[in-house]
Amino acid sequence: MAASALAVCMGMSASGAHNELTLQTNKLGAKVQPTMYGLFFEDINYAADGGLYAEMVKNRSFEFPQSLMGWMTYGGVELRNDGPFERNPHYVRLSPASHPHKHSGLENEGFFGVAVREGEEYRFSVWARVPDGGEAKLKVVIVDTKSQGESQEIAKARVTVDSKEWKKYTAVLKPKMTEAKGKLRIFLERPETTVDLEHVSLFPVDTWKGHENGLRRDLAQKLADLKPGIFRFPGGCIVEGTEIGDRYQWKNTVGPVENRPTNQNRWHYTFTNRFYPDYYQSGGLGFYEYFLLSEEIGAAPLPVLNVGLVCQYQNDRLESHVPVDRLDPYIQDALDLIEFANGPVDSEWGQLRADMGHPAPFGLEFIAIGNEQWGPEYVERLQPFVEAIRKAYPEIKIVGSSGPNSEGKDFDYLWPEMRRLKADLVDEHFYRPADWFLSQGARYDNYDRKGPKVFAGEYACHIKNKKWNHFYPALLEAAFMTGLERNADIVQMATYAPLFAHVEGWQWRPDMIWFDNLRSMPTASYYVQQLYAANKGTQVVPLTMDKKPLTGAEGQNGLFASAVWDADASQYVVKLANTSAEPQEITLHFAGMKKNRIIGSGTMMTLASENPDAENTLDNPDLIKPVESGVKVDGNQFSTTMKPYSFVVMRFDLVNK
Ligand code: AHR
Repeated sequence: MAASALAVCMGMSASGAHNELTLQTNKLGAKVQPTMYGLFFEDINYAADGGLYAEMVKNRSFEFPQSLMGWMTYGGVELRNDGPFERNPHYVRLSPASHPHKHSGLENEGFFGVAVREGEEYRFSVWARVPDGGEAKLKVVIVDTKSQGESQEIAKARVTVDSKEWKKYTAVLKPKMTEAKGKLRIFLERPETTVDLEHVSLFPVDTWKGHENGLRRDLAQKLADLKPGIFRFPGGCIVEGTEIGDRYQWKNTVGPVENRPTNQNRWHYTFTNRFYPDYYQSGGLGFYEYFLLSEEIGAAPLPVLNVGLVCQYQNDRLESHVPVDRLDPYIQDALDLIEFANGPVDSEWGQLRADMGHPAPFGLEFIAIGNEQWGPEYVERLQPFVEAIRKAYPEIKIVGSSGPNSEGKDFDYLWPEMRRLKADLVDEHFYRPADWFLSQGARYDNYDRKGPKVFAGEYACHIKNKKWNHFYPALLEAAFMTGLERNADIVQMATYAPLFAHVEGWQWRPDMIWFDNLRSMPTASYYVQQLYAANKGTQVVPLTMDKKPLTGAEGQNGLFASAVWDADASQYVVKLANTSAEPQEITLHFAGMKKNRIIGSGTMMTLASENPDAENTLDNPDLIKPVESGVKVDGNQFSTTMKPYSFVVMRFDLVNK
């Protein structure tokens, strides 16, 4: 019998069963690391360009391989390639139209449209010059696509270009209505003068924390609201590249945005049934922005760098990898990254960080080398990275990989190798079905405590039905995570994946947060992560169930549990997942209490759904969300009935008598 069926069965047969859980309050266990729960960001599903990165112009530098992809042109428009930005040389020249009733101009389609809100402000900017001198007048318009027949101008501004030298011009537009699928048009106005345009950009003024090269506020806020302890970036497979030249290169993503080269995004062609030929990386959301975001959401940054391997899934030609004796530039990239994050302002890379606006170090503590790599080809490349980083920066913790699978040949080979190389943490990935999640509650109970720690770096419960982000897989993630928490001495980081998905542009599901051009929505899995992260506590508290140590194996009565002490709040925190279809009677005993202390009042957050197939949608984003209630404790004991299919987090005050 499948473990899922078994657990449900156990729950059913245990209908009305009484579960006695005891917290050993006088035997506090392992420290829960501040990094324990966090976020993994990858530019997949239009998570960065078209998503979190608030730029609204697609192909703003005319650097996609089809240079005018995303643009329509009218009249005299010529593509040129001797522009002011060395790494983005293309720009367009608008020349006077051939007839007074014709227009020269451009239209950008945005990412699934250009989305604006009534009454808000949008900053248009463009680098421009008038090569023949004089003045060129530009009319900048946002049009809707709702109106029948002709489109309506919903915001406009005028820009006068008055220099033969390249200069940045800006204008603020205030839309008179909300439009999710508008377009941006730029017309050359009469009397027409030839004008050159480069790096055409449109951002909301109201970005996250108001940064000009900023992030979509609603999406960044959801990251902050999760209370993450760790922020892993920029991928995922995009770190690797199908060919080595396509790999993510952090040095291409720092410095002025105008000069950050466009890179392909392998998610544009990975799945032919989810094919997005206009999916590229602008680099506008680059390593400086990632570090800054980590700081602003209170998470420790965890950058992942290429180890000299191309994506082993996409490209099995050994000669495509970087030979081991030619890894020096790649290793130097890692060392330079540490200097960029932490170095003094008079160091080469520390100075760039300061020039970009952050003289103080970012406090980088972790670096991952290689994403989801496997085989001896990984180990032999990782080794020289480890040696060089240890020598230059012994304080930095190095994260290695256990490959793409949660068990099996690659996993069994890589773990001992990671031990041998003395990696500080090993990144495990598991996109697995329901029965795996139900059977893995005790996964870490018997891990070797002497070797590297575990980073559960990418995981999600995948249950293929009509819906993917429904409640049931989220509940199984919650159940599984009790095992991470009970083993916090060995598991020190965990991040669900992937994080974001645009409803019109996704390649991979399930995902934690879905969005369209104007709205965003947390899934049930988001709330599970948030409930863990916001209630991670500081030390594990041993739990017994019906007087036996709670192992999480198969979930006793379909019930999974963990408990922590939160020293900052002086509270015990208990997490319980009822994966069964039946209610569960629970009594919690607080054993080993000092005589002068009692358990005072408490609160309970409940994430539940009578229908395990229910899911949040953009039209109904609040269908599943945590509900808070108070709980009454009686004589260091608390009883409740857990709903079928529910996850609860309870906090109990410890007070002096
Ligand atoms: O999260 C999606 C992908 O899954 C990641 O890019 C990769 O690391 C894994 O295979």
